[in-house]
Amino acid sequence: MTDPEPDSSRWRGSDWARHRIHHPDFAVPPALAAYPSHGHIDLLPQARGRGIGRRAMAFLEQFLAASGSTGIHLEVMPQNDDALRFYKAIGFDVVQVPKRCVYVAKRLARAPAIAG
Ligand SMILES: CC(C)(COP(=O)(O)OP(=O)(O)OC[C@H]1O[C@@H](n2cnc3c(N)ncnc32)[C@H](O)[C@@H]1OP(=O)(O)O)[C@@H](O)C(=O)NCCC(=O)NCCS
Repeated sequence: MTDPEPDSSRWRGSDWARHRIHHPDFAVPPALAAYPSHGHIDLLPQARGRGIGRRAMAFLEQFLAASGSTGIHLEVMPQNDDALRFYKAIGFDVVQVPKRCVYVAKRLARAPAIAG
C-alpha cells in the first residue's frame, strides 16, 4: 500500500486512509482517556440499514470489554448525520475535542473473557 503524496488537495478515494496508515497519530486527547480503544466501521452501501452495523459494534464492544478495555471512541466527520444518528441509536455519546474532529464514545462494562 503506497503512501499518497503529501498534498492532501490531490488525494482521491481512500488516500486519506493510506496517509493515516503511513503517518499514524497515536496520541489520545485527554477527553478520550476513558475510551482508549479506537474503532472504524464502513459498510458497503448494499449492506447498510439491515442491522449489520448494530451487530458488528455489539460484537466489537463485547470483545474489547472482555479484553479489558474501559471504553471505545470513533472519529466522525461532523457532516455525517447518518453515522451520528447510528452511534446515538447504539448508545454512544458525542465527545467534543477542541481543534479536532467530532468523536463518539462509549464506556464498556467489565465482561468475562470470550472463550475460544
Ligand atoms: C453508519 C453505519 C456503520 C451503520 O450501520 P448499519 O448497518 O447501516 O446500521 P443498522 O442497520 O445496524 O442500524 C442500527 C440503528 O442505527 C440507526 N441508523 C442507522 N443508520 C441510520 C441512518 N442513516 N439514519 C438514521 N438512523 C440510522 C437506526 O436507528 C438503527 O436503529 P433500528 O435498528 O432501531 O432501526 C453504516 O451505514 C455505514 O457503514 N455507513 C457508511 C460509512 C460510515 O459513515 N461509517 C461511519 C464513519 S464514522
